[in-house]
Amino acid sequence: MLVKQTKDEKSGRVAATYEGKNVLVTGGFGFVGGHMTKVLVELGAHVTVFDIRTAPDVDALLNDPSSHLRDKVRIVHGDLGDAKMVREVVAEGKFNFLFNFAAYATVIEKAVENPFDTIQANTMGLVNVLEAVRSLKLRPTAIFHASTDKVYGEMDGDPYEEEKTPLRGIGVYDGAKLAADVFARTYHEVFGLPTVVLRMCNLFGPSDFNTGYRLIPRAMRNLFEAPQPIAPELYFDSIEHWRDYLYIDDCIRAILLLAHTPECRGQVFNLAAAKFASTPELLKTIVHIAYEIEKELDPARAEAILANGISVKVRATSPSILTITKQRLNGDKIRRMTDFEPTVDFADGIKRTIRAYRDYFAARGKSQPR
Ligand SMILES: NC(=O)c1ccc[n+]([C@@H]2O[C@H](COP(=O)([O-])OP(=O)(O)OC[C@H]3O[C@@H](n4cnc5c(N)ncnc54)[C@H](O)[C@@H]3O)[C@@H](O)[C@H]2O)c1
Repeated sequence: MLVKQTKDEKSGRVAATYEGKNVLVTGGFGFVGGHMTKVLVELGAHVTVFDIRTAPDVDALLNDPSSHLRDKVRIVHGDLGDAKMVREVVAEGKFNFLFNFAAYATVIEKAVENPFDTIQANTMGLVNVLEAVRSLKLRPTAIFHASTDKVYGEMDGDPYEEEKTPLRGIGVYDGAKLAADVFARTYHEVFGLPTVVLRMCNLFGPSDFNTGYRLIPRAMRNLFEAPQPIAPELYFDSIEHWRDYLYIDDCIRAILLLAHTPECRGQVFNLAAAKFASTPELLKTIVHIAYEIEKELDPARAEAILANGISVKVRATSPSILTITKQRLNGDKIRRMTDFEPTVDFADGIKRTIRAYRDYFAARGKSQPR
């Protein structure tokens, strides 16, 4: 465990920024938005969550019965692509901070099947928020937008730098996120809106319920959902993939710091990794750590996890699915402007993640190892 909080975090200045403030979180029923909502509520903010998927029975941190988080926020069910509705919500909310996480964000394959919906949510969703703020002549403190390392496209040479690396993302998801990223800056430069853009690497941690698609949640499901563990799957076409990985709590810290720091508004930042790893290495690390944790709790299951290892699968791919092979972010700028450093090292983050999913699947009664 690394402990490198910034001066403003240690002094409580970051936390105080959000106390009693009106905050909009779009996509709050998703992975990152859920964690952000939880922390904002803990900091005493008045949170409005806007999402297209708000039912009490959907898998979401907000619906976790142990936290009662759902009862502590205002929930608005709606589509961020609906400009009129977004304008009404923004007009009513008197928001000091707006955090935009809503996106069609699960898999590239889904974006390719639904390019229009992807662009509506991932590009126009942000434009609708910015347009509402601009046309209503509101003056929030900061408008945060969750962007992605995918806007840079395929890695060519050194790790991507905000001011130097061209934006070459061309897949449907990548292009839609890239356009939003550019519009965030447009609305700052042209209309003076206090936008902050964070190009985030691959995030992981508890309560990412995209267990059907995303690598780490899918591995967790394989290991802990069924009575017998199943080997995490490595798709043959991702054997050469390299990605940056960061634990979710550090991502939330970075976002709170950026929105808190006046000099960061109008700027774009990379959120770099605690660990740069190949996909095979990542899965092998998960299996190894899962074995270490499980052998104290259920030795037979631990042995099965180890014996299974990982499985390599071939899947049908289409030429329209443009997958980036290598992605790596340079995190110097956010460090320079906010002192931000990750506080959770990779192995510790994976341990926390494994324990949380183990408990989650046990509570759902879908696993019988204990
Ligand atoms: N998770 C990561 O590793 C990662 C990395 C880089 C960038 N991002 C970005 O961070 C943001 C959050 O990602 P996540 O992992 O929480 O995704 P997620 O899929 O878990 O959550 C997205 C949420 O947005 C909601 N949503 C989708 N379309 C909507 C619409 N039209 N109107 C209202 N709500 C809508 C979904 O219902 C969901 O609750 C996304 O913008 C994503 O592009 C995520």
